[in-house]
Amino acid sequence: MLLDEILLNLNMVLFGGKGGVGKTTCASSSAIWAAEQGRNTLIISTDPAHSLGDSLGVSLPPGIPTAVPGIANLTALEINSQANITEFQGLTNINPIEDIGISNIPFMEDLTDLSSMNPPGIDETLALLKVLEFIETEHDFDLIIFDTAPTGHTLRFLGLPETLSGWIGKILKMKMKLGTMFGAIKSMFGGESNKGDQSLEILERLNEAILRAKEDLTDPLKSSFVVVMISEEMAILETERLLNELVNYHIPNSNIIINQLYEANSELCEFCKARRRMQQKNLNKIKERFRKNWNKNLIEVPLFKDEIREYLPLKNLSNYLMKN
Ligand SMILES: Nc1ncnc2c1ncn2[C@@H]1O[C@H](COP(=O)(O)OP(=O)(O)O)[C@@H](O)[C@H]1O
Ligand SMILES: [Mg+2]
Repeated sequence: MLLDEILLNLNMVLFGGKGGVGKTTCASSSAIWAAEQGRNTLIISTDPAHSLGDSLGVSLPPGIPTAVPGIANLTALEINSQANITEFQGLTNINPIEDIGISNIPFMEDLTDLSSMNPPGIDETLALLKVLEFIETEHDFDLIIFDTAPTGHTLRFLGLPETLSGWIGKILKMKMKLGTMFGAIKSMFGGESNKGDQSLEILERLNEAILRAKEDLTDPLKSSFVVVMISEEMAILETERLLNELVNYHIPNSNIIINQLYEANSELCEFCKARRRMQQKNLNKIKERFRKNWNKNLIEVPLFKDEIREYLPLKNLSNYLMKN
């Protein structure tokens, strides 16, 4: 499916790739295009180093979906990862020994240290969970575009539905075991505590939202991942890995944007000519690998002389993104 068809027909589009390649720019440009085609569009940044507001030229209060002034049908949201941590703190750092105020219970030592079950990047993870939960609730958006974090984080995000539900499952089990044990021990010592009851509910709710989101993310009639890259050897290697991860997680994807290409121009300086030669050599490799072997649609985007931000330049970029 070509990018314009994706933006017109699907419900979730994720832009991912290395930092600085142009994910936010391409995601913003696509969001503007889709909104102008009449799709009620929400663009969400899950990158902890936000730049979505800067790109669109609007101020985005963290965690609050904000209508983008001057563009009908477009809402933007930057997720505040820090805010979510507090909400979930306490879910994972359960210390049975401290909880009941006694120590030296031999069998307690065998219990897994629950805090070690924290998946890596818990803050972004929780931020993303909020997003997954949000998109699984009632809303009026036809299309949700994700401006994702750099590759490493994106992959973690993609792994979430599996790693996280596994992790939550473990905690749920452990909590149940502990609950029974706590009950017995506490009554022995005459103690009383209801700690953990509500967190169990939150974890269960999250688990369900993640599983539903996973279904949506892997449904080619609903979602697609768009890879953004530049024409360099390192980016080729990284993209190859990313494509393999996408296969592993069953995330549909058919488009790769090759951004920041020097165009043929007789006025190019020696330095730029050399850059162009390097890029063209890699572009041939990209065509060979990703178009021929992986059967991806390649979208070539030139390097513009000016920064691409705010409405007009972003709108202009969409002409390049959609013409392929
Ligand atoms: N094709 C392009 N031509 C010129 N500048 C570009 C192009 N694509 C992106 N940029 C600029 O590069 C910078 C990084 O882009 P950004 O979209 O923020 O990258 P990412 O989100 O991948 O980190 C921005 O200042 C953006 O304006
Ligand atoms: Mg970005």
